[in-house]
Amino acid sequence: MTTQQKLQHEIDQFAASTPVSAQKQADAERYLPGGSSRGTAFFAPHPHFIERGEGHYVQDADGSRLLDFMINATSLILGHAHPDVTRAIQEQAARGAAFTGPTDAQVRMAKILTERVPSVDLIRFTNSGTEGTMMAIRAARAFTGREKIAKFEGGYHGAHEYVSVSVRPPLEKLDPSGPTPIAEHPGLPQSILDQVIVLPYNDLDWCERVLRENASELACLIMEPVVSSFGYLPGDVEFLQGLRDLTAELGIVLIYDEVQSFRIAPGGAQEALGVIPDMTSFGKIIGGGTPVGAFGGRAELMELFDPTKGAPIAHAGTFNANPVTMAAGEAVMNHLTPDVYERMNALGEELRAKLRAVFDEFEMPTQITGIGSLFGIHFTSEEIRDYRDVVRADQTMRRALFMGLLNEGVLLQSGAAGAMTSLTTETEIDALVDATRRVTQRLK
Ligand SMILES: Cc1ncc(COP(=O)(O)O)c(C=O)c1O
Repeated sequence: MTTQQKLQHEIDQFAASTPVSAQKQADAERYLPGGSSRGTAFFAPHPHFIERGEGHYVQDADGSRLLDFMINATSLILGHAHPDVTRAIQEQAARGAAFTGPTDAQVRMAKILTERVPSVDLIRFTNSGTEGTMMAIRAARAFTGREKIAKFEGGYHGAHEYVSVSVRPPLEKLDPSGPTPIAEHPGLPQSILDQVIVLPYNDLDWCERVLRENASELACLIMEPVVSSFGYLPGDVEFLQGLRDLTAELGIVLIYDEVQSFRIAPGGAQEALGVIPDMTSFGKIIGGGTPVGAFGGRAELMELFDPTKGAPIAHAGTFNANPVTMAAGEAVMNHLTPDVYERMNALGEELRAKLRAVFDEFEMPTQITGIGSLFGIHFTSEEIRDYRDVVRADQTMRRALFMGLLNEGVLLQSGAAGAMTSLTTETEIDALVDATRRVTQRLK
């Protein structure tokens, strides 16, 4: 059997065990394109509809209980429906869900985050990570008076136009001589493409040459210190430090997108890797499962938003720093003591080592990436260093593993990546490893 046939076998098995989800998807498609409001929710033949979540598990509409390492794209760091988070949400909702005036909970969250994150003197909250990166870029442009931005090939920073360039370019569109700006969707204005410089990850010489050439026009470099779409690959520390030194020298604002990587240490990846940007964007875990984002940075940058200082940048948002979100986020942050990170990260190490051992057992060429509580699986014998290494890996095997694990009752991200929660123990890790062994046996 070919890999494609084995994938089809897994898909058929999934379809046979999810008739209720299939029907719900068909109904949903009458009202929502693709049956949902989120591209990432879909996978073929149909996604499974989720009825409830509890701790490390979700239950789907067909009654299957799945061990969840997807945890809403890494955001549920305490697992589903943590009692303290649920209580915080209920109590705040009963006192009122949204006000125009500021609330104490917002100030408490701002205090927690500014105290924890080295680069952040001042912070503002938004409703999504998308808005967080958008406002950080806006601040960098206003601060520098320059218009262009630099980003990495394969880097995702949310759904807004500024960064919808070279996010998931297909292999056949890549210029072999190096990254070029490629529109992420039809209709992206040429003027946006003209403002974006695309760089290869982990290649400091290339970045130095291009950043120097374009320095007088570059407002910022936006990047993830741990690249989510590369299976949570941390940048080489010399690469990160080199970019820090260069951007400081050239007056380019360095923005770390820590929407996902903030979960690896109390002060995020910047603390763990020891490289401090000028601005940082946040999302995911700081909302306790409710919609959230934030951006923060050095006082001189963030004061651009300060109405008491003339605020050259207006920043409105009906639900910014929504009190329900702030209460949920505070409940999460209060749980995340240094020992919780230590335990989750140690389990992450253990999981990555055990996954490597499984694929070695079957002599299947794979790369296991990740850091802290995050992990990714790539079917390739090449070390993962940048976007091109990621897309050159075997995507049929990746899909087959994802579907196979679903059939084994384990939920990963469809990109064969995932994250731990504060509830993860060796039991959950071994369940994932054993399921991976069974699926690999079938796919071999
Ligand atoms: C690295 C990164 N930046 C930004 C975003 C956008 O966040 P949101 O989906 O909350 O808009 C995401 C979301 O997955 C992300 O992973």
